[in-house]
Amino acid sequence: MHTKHFVLVIFLFSTLILPVYSHANNSCSLEMFGNDTGAHWACATQFALQSNWFPSPIAGLFSYLIWNGFDGFWQNGAVLEPMTNFMAYTNSTRYISVIRSSYRQLYSLLEAYGPYPSFDDMGWYGLSYARIYEVLGDQEFLQSSLDIFNWCWQTGWDTTGSCYGGFWFDNNVNAKQTITNVEMFQLAAKLLRHTKDKTILKKLNQIYEFIIKTKIVNETTYLLSDGIFLENCTTTYNYGPTYNNGVFIGGLVEVYKITNNKTYLDLAQKIARATIAYSTNKTTGIFTEYCDPNCDDDGIMFKGIFVRNLRYLMDALTDQATRDEFQTFLEFNVKAITEINMCEKIPICKCNITFKDGPPYYNVSGPVFSPDWNGPFTYGAPMQQTSALDLFVSSIKPDTKCNGKMCSYDPYYPPPQPLTCGSKPCPAPEVCCEYSPYTSYTCCTTGQKCIKGLFI
Ligand SMILES: *[C@@H]1O[C@H](CO)[C@@H](O)[C@H](O)[C@H]1NC(C)=O
Ligand SMILES: *[C@@H]1O[C@H](CO)[C@@H](O)[C@H](O)[C@H]1NC(C)=O
Ligand SMILES: *[C@@H]1O[C@H](CO)[C@@H](O)[C@H](O)[C@H]1NC(C)=O
Ligand SMILES: *[C@@H]1O[C@H](CO)[C@@H](O)[C@H](O)[C@H]1NC(C)=O
Ligand SMILES: *[C@@H]1O[C@H](CO)[C@@H](O)[C@H](O)[C@H]1NC(C)=O
Ligand SMILES: *[C@@H]1O[C@H](CO)[C@@H](O)[C@H](O)[C@H]1NC(C)=O
Ligand SMILES: *[C@@H]1O[C@H](CO)[C@@H](O)[C@H](O)[C@H]1NC(C)=O
Ligand SMILES: *[C@@H]1O[C@H](CO)[C@@H](O)[C@H](O)[C@H]1NC(C)=O
Ligand SMILES: *[C@@H]1O[C@H](CO)[C@@H](O)[C@H](O)[C@H]1NC(C)=O
Repeated sequence: MHTKHFVLVIFLFSTLILPVYSHANNSCSLEMFGNDTGAHWACATQFALQSNWFPSPIAGLFSYLIWNGFDGFWQNGAVLEPMTNFMAYTNSTRYISVIRSSYRQLYSLLEAYGPYPSFDDMGWYGLSYARIYEVLGDQEFLQSSLDIFNWCWQTGWDTTGSCYGGFWFDNNVNAKQTITNVEMFQLAAKLLRHTKDKTILKKLNQIYEFIIKTKIVNETTYLLSDGIFLENCTTTYNYGPTYNNGVFIGGLVEVYKITNNKTYLDLAQKIARATIAYSTNKTTGIFTEYCDPNCDDDGIMFKGIFVRNLRYLMDALTDQATRDEFQTFLEFNVKAITEINMCEKIPICKCNITFKDGPPYYNVSGPVFSPDWNGPFTYGAPMQQTSALDLFVSSIKPDTKCNGKMCSYDPYYPPPQPLTCGSKPCPAPEVCCEYSPYTSYTCCTTGQKCIKGLFI
C-alpha cells in the first residue's frame, strides 16, 4: 500500500513537470549555469527567439513554404553560429536538432536563394557550417562549408589580374565589398586549419594580400573601409559597419591559430579597440551601429556579429588584462540592453513584437530586445533578437558549464506552415509579393516593389 502511494506521488510529479517541456516556461535558470548571468540571459533570449519566430531558422526557407522567421536568406545562415557557440560555451546541447537539421548541400542553398546568390550571403552558411563542424564534429557540415568556399572562389574571385584580385560582390561583377572578402578570409583560414589543404593556403594568402594592399584596413586608424572603388582600386573611406571589422578579427584569430605568429593577434586587438572606440555612443558609452537607430534588417545584425568575433579574439589571448578589458566591454553592454532595451511585460504580447509571415507556432515568450542598444525598447523581431543573443553568448565566462536536464532541451519543431498572401502575413506597411510558380510569397520592405513576383 505504501509502495502504491509512492508510485502515485511520482506520477503526479512528472505531470507537474511536463509544462516546462511544453513552452509554458522558458526552462532557463541561473543555477543551471553556475550563476553565470550571460549564459542565463542567452538561454532565455534563445528560447524567446525560437518560440516567437519559427523554431528552425531555415526550415521554411527551403521548402517554399512560409514560416514566421527572418524572411531573409543570409540572416538564417548567420544565426546558426551564436546558437552553436551557446552549446560550445556552456557545454550543453540545447536545440541541437535545429542546428543539425540546418544542414544543406551547396546546390540546395543555391536553389533556395535564386536567381543568383551574392557571395557574402553564401559566406554566412560557410562560416556557420564550419563552426558547427568544429563544435559537433559532423563531417557533412565541413564538406558543405568547403563546397561553399570552392564555389565562391570559382565563381566569385576576380581572375582578371586587376586590383590584386578580390571577391566580386555578386555575379554582376560590378563591385568589391569588404564583407565578402573578410568572410572568405576567415572561412579559408578555418578550413585550412581543419583540412591542412595546401590549395586553400594559396587562396588565403591571395585574399589577405587583397585586403592589405587595397588598404581596406586603414594603417593609422585600424578601421576597415566598407569597400573599394573599382576605377582606381582605393578604399571608399566608409568606416561604418562593425561586422566588417568583426569578421576580419575572427579571420586574423584563425591565422594566428595556424601560424602562432603574434603579429596577427596584435592587429586584431588594434582593430577591436578601434571599432569599439569608433562605434560607441559618446554619451551613453553603449556600442552603437553607424545606422542606429534606423538600421535595416541587415544592419540590425551587425553588432552581434562584431561581438561574436570579439569573443573568438578573447579566447585566443594569453594576456589576461586585455581579455578582462573586452569582457568588461561586453558586460557593460549586457547590463545596458537588459536595463533599457528589453521588454518582458506580462503578458509578453504587450511588447511590440513583429511577426513577418504569420503568427507564432508556440506561445510568445520574452525577453525581447530592439535594434538600438541605447534603447528605449521599440519592437521585437528576429534580427535584433539575434544580435542580443550574440552579445549574451559572447559574454559567457570561460569554464561555464550547464548542469541538469534542461541542458539538453530540444523541443519538437513543426513543419513550416503553408501561408499565402491571402493570409495577410506582412506587417504594415510591407507589401505581400507572390512568387510564381510556387504559391509562396515574400514581404517587400519599404523601397522594394513587387513586379511579377520579383522584388526589386
Ligand atoms: C499557451 O498559452 C495558453 C494560455 O495561456 C495555454 O493554455 C496553452 O497551454 C499554452 N500553450 C503552450 C504550447 O504552452
Ligand atoms: C518554471 O520552471 C521552474 C522549474 O521547473 C519552476 O521552478 C518555476 O516555478 C517555473 N516558473 C513558472 C513561471 O512557471
Ligand atoms: C548560485 O547562487 C546561489 C544563491 O546565491 C547559491 O546558493 C549557489 O551556491 C550558487 N551556485 C554556484 C555554483 O555558485
Ligand atoms: C562536455 O560534456 C561532455 C558530456 O556531455 C563531456 O564529455 C565533455 O568533457 C564536456 N566538455 C567540457 C569542455 O567540459
Ligand atoms: C586613414 O584614415 C586617415 C584618418 O581618417 C585618413 O586621413 C587617411 O586618408 C586614411 N587612409 C586611407 C588609405 O584610407
Ligand atoms: C577614386 O575614384 C573615386 C570614384 O571615382 C573618387 O571619388 C576618388 O577620389 C578616387 N581616389 C583617388 C585616390 O584617386
Ligand atoms: C609574422 O607575420 C608578419 C605579417 O605577415 C610577418 O611580417 C612576419 O615575418 C611573421 N613573423 C614570423 C616570425 O614568421
Ligand atoms: C546616443 O546617446 C544619446 C544620449 O542618450 C541619444 O540621444 C542618442 O540618440 C544616442 N544615439 C543613438 C544612435 O542611439
Ligand atoms: C511597433 O513596431 C513597429 C515596427 O515593426 C513600429 O513601426 C511601431 O512604431 C511600433 N509601435 C510602438 C508603439 O512602438
